[in-house]
Amino acid sequence: MSIMRAAYASRFDADDPLAALVVGERPEPTHPDPDWVTVEVRASSLNHHDLWSLRGVGLAADRLPMILGCDAAGVDPDGNEVVVFPVVPDPADPRGLSLLSEHHPGTLAERVAVPRANLVPKPAGMSFVEAACLPTAWLTAYRMLTTRGRLADGGSVLVQGAGGGVATAAVVLAVALGKRVYATSRDPAKRERIAALGATAVAPGARLPERVDVVIETVGAATFDHSLKSAAPGARIVVSGATAGHEPTVNLRRVFAMQLEILGSTMGTAAELAELLDLCVARGIRPVIDGVHGFSRVDEAFARLHSGGIFGKVVLDHTT
Ligand SMILES: NC(=O)c1ccc[n+]([C@@H]2O[C@H](COP(=O)([O-])OP(=O)(O)OC[C@H]3O[C@@H](n4cnc5c(N)ncnc54)[C@H](OP(=O)(O)O)[C@@H]3O)[C@@H](O)[C@H]2O)c1
Repeated sequence: MSIMRAAYASRFDADDPLAALVVGERPEPTHPDPDWVTVEVRASSLNHHDLWSLRGVGLAADRLPMILGCDAAGVDPDGNEVVVFPVVPDPADPRGLSLLSEHHPGTLAERVAVPRANLVPKPAGMSFVEAACLPTAWLTAYRMLTTRGRLADGGSVLVQGAGGGVATAAVVLAVALGKRVYATSRDPAKRERIAALGATAVAPGARLPERVDVVIETVGAATFDHSLKSAAPGARIVVSGATAGHEPTVNLRRVFAMQLEILGSTMGTAAELAELLDLCVARGIRPVIDGVHGFSRVDEAFARLHSGGIFGKVVLDHTT
């Protein structure tokens, strides 16, 4: 059995997820289905999902050890440069879907096996490092703004916790789509960086100059009340994460009186990923990158994500 280097969860640690991370050797990916192919990973990026997995959220103990990672860009067996769409069939449920690293080994490895249908051409002008940012956080932000948030019908957006991968993506995409964008961050230095992206940066909880049409919510309990208060009549509050707690207090009176829509959103489709790539190429959009770490420094990259101090995506360059 041949082996490859990989970053994987060996166990769960709810309090100290970094302690459950192992960088070592795992078997090469194989898949019995002839429609699956193996991609040589050139770059990957981390998501909060990887920390949840190390904590034991969304990953069952009987699937350990599990190679982490949802995002990758690399080269397919025919030599094509590709971006990997990370939503794959759920082997436990024929009608269900899962993310790479939930049932099938993830992308934080030399190679990853995926259905051929999950390969999206990497735009020629985009580096592997840039492309590896897009499949989870950027796709999630794109779907939240467009399909779920129906931003085309609105003029303004609020993005909560703007340092995160999804949040920075939402800021950049909403600015590129010509909307008025407000974003909160607890960190004054991050607020400066948000302003440089073209958004109006405010402290968490601050009153906005206007009520917004769409709210992008990935923080959860710490910001949800502010999201409700900032929403214009008929606004969409789109939720895809709850980093700071998933059981906020919700003022239902405000929900019905303002006729608000609270919408869940998860990932996106392969077609939406292709649309996102086209948009990035057409508008010259480049992902916001917190830092690029060599694969041999994967533990350092995880520590950076875990610190909460990030601004944009934490990327792994698999060629170093
Ligand atoms: N459903 C899906 O398909 C999907 C896809 C991607 C992500 N997600 C979820 O979305 C969330 C965001 O993920 P991510 O990878 O983009 O980044 P992340 O690491 O969760 O985001 C970090 C940001 O969250 C904000 N934050 C964290 N704790 C906070 C607190 N107590 N109060 C206020 N803000 C806080 C911070 O903003 P500031 O420091 O700027 O204040 C920080 O920059 C995660 O929960 C993730 O699981 C879901």
